[in-house]
Amino acid sequence: MHKPNGWSIKLRKFDSQRAEYLNMTDQSPVLVTFDGDVARVEINNPPVNATSTAVRQGLADAVAAVQGARVAVLTCAGRTFVAGGDMSEFDAPPAEPHLPDVVQLIEDSQVPFLAAMHGNVLGGGLEIAMGCAWRIAAKGTGFGLPEVNVGLIPGAGGTQRLPRLIGMKAAIDVACSGKILKAEEMHSLGAVDAVVDNLEVAIADFVQNLPERPVAVRQRQVPAFDAELIEAARATLVKRAKGQTSPLENLEALQWATEAFEIGQPKERARHLKLRHSPESRALRHAFFAERMVAKPDAIRGATPREINHIAVVGGGLMGAGIATSALNAGLSVTLIERDAEAAAMAETRVHGLLEGAVKRGKMAPETFKARKAAFRAVWDYAEAANIPLAIEAVFENVDVKRDVFRQLAAVMAPDAILATNTSYLDPMEIFEGVAHQNRCLGLHFFSPAHIMKLLEIVKTPHTDASVLATGFALGKRMRKVSVLSGICDGFIGNRMLAAYRRAADYLLADGALPYQVDAAMREMGLPMGPYEMQDLTGLQIAWANRQRQAETRDPAERYVTIGDQLCQMDRLGQRSGKGWYAYEEGNRTPQRDPLVEAMIEEYSAKQGISRRAFTNEEIAGRLLAVLANEGARIVEEGIAERDADVDIVKIHGYGFPRWRGGPMQYATEIGWGKTKEFMQLVDAESPNSWTIASNPDAV
Ligand code: NAI
Repeated sequence: MHKPNGWSIKLRKFDSQRAEYLNMTDQSPVLVTFDGDVARVEINNPPVNATSTAVRQGLADAVAAVQGARVAVLTCAGRTFVAGGDMSEFDAPPAEPHLPDVVQLIEDSQVPFLAAMHGNVLGGGLEIAMGCAWRIAAKGTGFGLPEVNVGLIPGAGGTQRLPRLIGMKAAIDVACSGKILKAEEMHSLGAVDAVVDNLEVAIADFVQNLPERPVAVRQRQVPAFDAELIEAARATLVKRAKGQTSPLENLEALQWATEAFEIGQPKERARHLKLRHSPESRALRHAFFAERMVAKPDAIRGATPREINHIAVVGGGLMGAGIATSALNAGLSVTLIERDAEAAAMAETRVHGLLEGAVKRGKMAPETFKARKAAFRAVWDYAEAANIPLAIEAVFENVDVKRDVFRQLAAVMAPDAILATNTSYLDPMEIFEGVAHQNRCLGLHFFSPAHIMKLLEIVKTPHTDASVLATGFALGKRMRKVSVLSGICDGFIGNRMLAAYRRAADYLLADGALPYQVDAAMREMGLPMGPYEMQDLTGLQIAWANRQRQAETRDPAERYVTIGDQLCQMDRLGQRSGKGWYAYEEGNRTPQRDPLVEAMIEEYSAKQGISRRAFTNEEIAGRLLAVLANEGARIVEEGIAERDADVDIVKIHGYGFPRWRGGPMQYATEIGWGKTKEFMQLVDAESPNSWTIASNPDAV
């Protein structure tokens, strides 16, 4: 019999002989108890019962401790079953006992194990559950192998047992996408013996009428599947993954399940350990931790948010309607204030339309739609804001119009009511000029379409109270946004970086590249679109207006490429005007190279006396990514962002930067900041007086 280490499990209500043998301790996260001939093994490792070294050791010892019982019931304390591995252990060499061995100990145990699950059964949790003889789950329990989301494949038999248990098709669906299956679906796939209302009652029933012990999952055959299934899945994954490799790694590992388990399992383990050190896994883990970090900026530490259940949104155009919809979807009441009755009616139609869209797509129940509509009013009298604790302004991008809005709001709202602006580029300090109690003012910068885009920049002015910022973060969380704190600068974090990126791209056009090449180079890096396709999609006019605004203060020595302005003057404002950097066929959004635009670019270079030269895709992407990282480093240096993680999260959630590259700062860290600096020096030499290179010696 396996002799336990002793320290790793706790025993309660057990005969003294065994307790002595096992050297009872209070340190272990695994507790073994007995009720007659039924053993209970409970994992208690908050917050999510991750399979840390201590848990693995505890489970291994528990298998020994339960010998002699009729059945062992494996459960978890707290809000969930085992919901994954301990990611903080991933950078260190793996410590014994390894999870695959622990799962096999459970699977081979003379005493059969029943997994009784609730919450989420993810990654190592599902691997452990598949080693048990039986599985029962509380209603609503979620099952998945989310390793793909952190650039990995499972490492303890997940890809080897799952196809044996639920078939190859469903296993591909789960392992290659990170998708979570509900207990009910797992039940219909035959992977869960029962889905129950009350787990404790169900356990008692189950152990009383124990079914015959089934064949261990690893000894089963993968049910027959269509040979074309794999190729079809591969084609879909290649298309969807945009350069990310872990979905394909998972697909490959799943195919090893058609070999003997003794062959497939070691292959899976070896690949899992190798991938832990891949740049992709590092980047995805960085993104995972960064998301948690940005939610708790230093600036709100210790501050208490105010509870907000009703907001006013001023301006019901594109952004105001989206913000209102997002707030309604979070269960808030919304009063939308427009200029007049006609504009209010239009805003109402817009908001109802967005809600209806969700109903049509089957994303909202008709009763919910009714409730959302009832929580919404569109009005044109500012007095309606009198008792509302927070207002978000989304009127025209004009300082005088915005000032007037806040003057009217301040006149009717409580002196401590929170006032927020959704401005993209204007200085909130100018907007709030003259407003009493400026400690209640901040920026809440949503991204378009606001009811869909995840990112929210929370902009602090020098006067904003920590509690007001904390309220912004709490509201963002409730609206299911990823909120990032930003200080004030032109464009805040995201649009400032975008402006630098576009400027660098324009320099490349002037020096010899063409829009389609720049776009292709960035798509090759995993971005969904390059800078020119993106401009055509979102429209050229906002950035144009912004460049015009900046003209007065722009350093005359800075290189300024006018091609984009020329396009705007020609009314080529992007897809909505039928043409922009590209041409578009009627009713088709696919960009077509436009000889007219390309000739214009060549003519521009000639007029500037530039002899155009070829750039490789690597040269293009290298420059543009270096510019992004450099601007990010400056933003951190200036204290606009608290840390690199904030910059990365803004780019991932607001601008489609591939998560599997972890954001521009993580990318620069991965390739080495020295390389970024080299590219930056090149960019600087090609366009003198146009760049400020970040000075942080640890960074660029
Ligand atoms: P929009 O032109 O679609 O809507 C503005 C709305 O404000 C109109 O419905 C107008 O009737 C209303 N309005 C104007 N003056 C008003 C007043 N005094 N009282 C009440 N309502 C008034 O503009 P959009 O695109 O929605 O932008 C609004 C704000 O959001 C701007 O500050 C813009 O910079 C910012 N923003 C825009 C983004 C975009 O992608 N369009 C993204 C992020 C922020």
